[in-house]
Amino acid sequence: MQVVIDKPTAVGYQVRGFSGGRQIPDGIVGHAPRFEETLERIHRVSTTSATVLITGETGTGKELVARAIHRRSRRSLHAMVCVNLAALPKELVASELFGHEAGAFTGAFQKRIGRFEAANAGTLFLDEVGELPLGVQVTLLRALQEGEFERIGSNQTKTADVRVVAATNHSLEEAVEDGLFRSDLFYRLAVFPIHLPPLRERREDIPGLAGHFLAELANRLGRQFSGIEPESMTRLIEYSWPGNIRELQNVIEHSAILSNGGILQVPPELLSTRVTGPTMVSSLSDAMDAGERRLIEQALEETNGRVYGPTGAAVRLGIPSSTLESKIKRHRINKHQYRTSAA
Ligand SMILES: Nc1ncnc2c1ncn2[C@@H]1O[C@H](COP(=O)(O)OP(=O)(O)OP(=O)(O)O)[C@@H](O)[C@H]1O
Ligand SMILES: [Mg+2]
Repeated sequence: MQVVIDKPTAVGYQVRGFSGGRQIPDGIVGHAPRFEETLERIHRVSTTSATVLITGETGTGKELVARAIHRRSRRSLHAMVCVNLAALPKELVASELFGHEAGAFTGAFQKRIGRFEAANAGTLFLDEVGELPLGVQVTLLRALQEGEFERIGSNQTKTADVRVVAATNHSLEEAVEDGLFRSDLFYRLAVFPIHLPPLRERREDIPGLAGHFLAELANRLGRQFSGIEPESMTRLIEYSWPGNIRELQNVIEHSAILSNGGILQVPPELLSTRVTGPTMVSSLSDAMDAGERRLIEQALEETNGRVYGPTGAAVRLGIPSSTLESKIKRHRINKHQYRTSAA
């Protein structure tokens, strides 16, 4: 198998042999059956102003899809304003979203327009929406339903015409069950859900994606690549991709930097993040790491991949769920694989 990469065109890149020479609109590569339906839904909702909830594991393209929806809509003449709710301290979320008057709280020296207002006539992208504090959820619900809100410290009602696209890689249904997310807001956000399947469920797209990233890199690094070595491609197709498309992109970049051009080889050690079977441990800290990983995997197995709540893995392990989340990330464990349909 070899990827033949054509010269970049005005609209995107063409990767012959894998994407059938098709143009790549919005930089979204994919034609696996599992992904076709998703593309169709993106296409359908783009021309409307409906609220969209994009779900999918880390690195599956949620932000890319959110941008595509905005770009294809009539709102694209106006701004797409992005707020990552996981990156904001809880106590600042309300004023970030809805603004505040001068002196509304300690540190609020000047009045400030919120992101909701800034997105008027455009799109507001609420990334990691599951992190929205309960207290702000009711305010957002009203803003979504009535288009009305007040800046903090003001009793003057403002209006804005905003299309909300929200994304999450946690299960909002689970957060609702655990009392961390209002069900009325969930239903309001999930008017039109779009699920992005993990890469391991659309392996047909791996060659096309790898070729796409390589073409981009060739341009950026100023190196000529004629394709990807067949054994490397097999390895890419067989790997489990816990970090999904972002991880694939990183692996291609890492390999391209190591290579001088020509046929790209992907060093096998770049694809060995998942420890399986008995491991050789060389130090106490390695042994502790491996032990920690095993305990976390076991807890996830017993809780069907559930981290939060009274029956979640965090409680079972006796640690805060935020700590468990960061350990899961560090060990690059894919918690979703422990999900069973019965759960
Ligand atoms: N279908 C695709 N075609 C081409 N590139 C893609 C595709 N999906 C994702 N990417 C690329 O993969 C990277 C990760 O995508 P993105 O940031 O949209 O993922 P995400 O789901 O928002 O991740 P996270 O949950 O970690 O925030 C980006 O560089 C994006 O451009
Ligand atoms: Mg993202």
